[in-house]
Amino acid sequence: MNPTPPNAPFAAFGNADILVKEVRKHFKDVKAVDGISLEIHRGEFIALLGPNGAGKTTLVEMIEGIQQPDSGEIRIQGKTWQSHADELRRILGISLQETYFFDKLTVRETLTLFASFYGLPRERVGAIMDLVNLEEKKNAYVVNLSGGQRQRLALGVALLNNARILLLDEPTTGLDPSARREIWNILLKLKAESNTTLILTTHYMEEAEFLCDRIIIMDRGRVLARGTLEQLLSQSNSSEIIEFAIAEERPQLDLNGLAGFQKFTWDGKLNQGQLLVDSIVARLPKLLEILERQRFTLRALECRKMTLDDLFISMTGRHLRQES
Ligand SMILES: Nc1ncnc2c1ncn2[C@@H]1O[C@H](COP(=O)(O)OP(=O)(O)OP(=O)(O)O)[C@@H](O)[C@H]1O
Ligand SMILES: [Mg+2]
Repeated sequence: MNPTPPNAPFAAFGNADILVKEVRKHFKDVKAVDGISLEIHRGEFIALLGPNGAGKTTLVEMIEGIQQPDSGEIRIQGKTWQSHADELRRILGISLQETYFFDKLTVRETLTLFASFYGLPRERVGAIMDLVNLEEKKNAYVVNLSGGQRQRLALGVALLNNARILLLDEPTTGLDPSARREIWNILLKLKAESNTTLILTTHYMEEAEFLCDRIIIMDRGRVLARGTLEQLLSQSNSSEIIEFAIAEERPQLDLNGLAGFQKFTWDGKLNQGQLLVDSIVARLPKLLEILERQRFTLRALECRKMTLDDLFISMTGRHLRQES
């Protein structure tokens, strides 16, 4: 099955939990969000995956009612921010890209403060500390929390009011793998136990792959591709990659005679190349034969499945993760 085309029109304006229709937001000459349409259903976990500056935060903040679109329409469970702001605030649980807490409040005091905004009973604070594994840290000042603990506190605040729709902006950025995994486990538990709809933004393809039912790849304010992981990776005929390097210096390399590859890129400085192929097993012997015939010495060889990062590179020439 083919993934939905990047900017496909709506099938229906029906029972989607979140509908975003032709939304635009420009800042002077920056097209932060440049005509995006989405339809997200109840209980779906959606990843907005894209590099720095793709427009992820601008898009989620418009859904959250924090920013106003220049044009287009946003509906959450059929309601708009213009007509149902109070109701939407109760439906949504939000964690922003950067969360500022009061350093001189403890974990428990912070959650109690937020719980009071929603008029929630005290027991809810205990339940949330349990859920996000901060029970042990309940009397610790926020200023003394680790990055991972702070992110879990932000997640706890987002989960306090039992929101039916969660919007998490980079919930694991900057965390080490085990702290990231802890957040993933909390979200997976939530998915198993409730019918929460989730949009999370991330630069980590592993996060999108592991947690989400569908992935929307964004770049420069637009949707480049969308679908399940399988749909995205089967977009091109090539789904496997052979990377190799040779000992000899060759500014260019000709692989004439090798059939079945879709794309060959050669780095003439590092003397290494990348081949996108339909099947490694079918194509590798021939590649080795061609290199041997030209008397090249193989210095390195790596064969692997295509990843979302490879897909992104093939679409944009850039990596998903950019060092900022
Ligand atoms: N208030 C603003 N004024 C001017 N430009 C802005 C503003 N907010 C965002 N932008 C620009 O819009 C583009 C999209 O920014 P946005 O923060 O939505 O990206 P992002 O995908 O969330 O990036 P990151 O992964 O770094 O968080 C960027 O080029 C950014 O510089
Ligand atoms: Mg952002």
